[in-house]
Amino acid sequence: MKNPITWGYASLRERGLTRTLSSAVSFIDNWWFDLRYGTDTAAVVQTPLLDIPAQVKALAHEYRASKAAPMRKLLEAAELPENKVFLDMGCGKGKALMIAADYGCQKLIGVEYSPTLCERARDNLQARLKNRPEVAFEVVQGDAAEYEFRDDENVIYFYNPFAAPIARSVLRSLERSLQRVPRQVWLLYYVCEFRESFDECPFLELKAAPVFGGCEHLIFINRCYLPRVNTA
Ligand SMILES: C[S@@+](CC[C@H](N)C(=O)[O-])C[C@H]1O[C@@H](n2cnc3c(N)ncnc32)[C@H](O)[C@@H]1O
Repeated sequence: MKNPITWGYASLRERGLTRTLSSAVSFIDNWWFDLRYGTDTAAVVQTPLLDIPAQVKALAHEYRASKAAPMRKLLEAAELPENKVFLDMGCGKGKALMIAADYGCQKLIGVEYSPTLCERARDNLQARLKNRPEVAFEVVQGDAAEYEFRDDENVIYFYNPFAAPIARSVLRSLERSLQRVPRQVWLLYYVCEFRESFDECPFLELKAAPVFGGCEHLIFINRCYLPRVNTA
């Protein structure tokens, strides 16, 4: 690792003050989280180094962990329901899942293409949740574009995992699930960069776009849903 002074000087010259400060804050946030919980989430994995097929890589974002403080504010702003089944699309090393575990989720599910990152996420979750058997978790290895939503998942989290074509497939799968089991769902988009497929999605409504940690985040809910009628 570079000397922080050398790194800071080079970064200021190449990337300017705002991006240098933002990288420094990310570094401290990730380092502190890992130190506190004995996990390993901090190191960025640039897109060319992800162990995923080239055609998926072309639409993928690099691995970078959510920052704890703004993500916590986003979860609080979203007014989530009591019964949460939380899914992170592109869960990387599992940091967002570990943060969500503090918000009363019944189950945490991560979908991640990279087998190496999946392994790391499982190890991290195991370490973080070792004294909390009441929180179930699962990391599914595979392409988000092919993921078929389960019909109890109701909080879906994205941190810039992939570009619009994959996001559209994910939203079609979510729509199929909502047709099978109508319910209220919350889509949380942390640090949105690829928002067009969400904005265009006819069954989603933007509920709020709060700014935390200097970045805009999006909170969507589905427009209308028919609560299931119990015919038993
Ligand atoms: C910016 S990271 C977010 C990590 C994690 N959600 C968090 O907040 O800490 C985006 C992740 O999406 C994954 N990803 C990209 N394309 C994917 C795809 N098609 N299917 C599944 N995962 C994908 C990448 O491997 C990367 O780990």
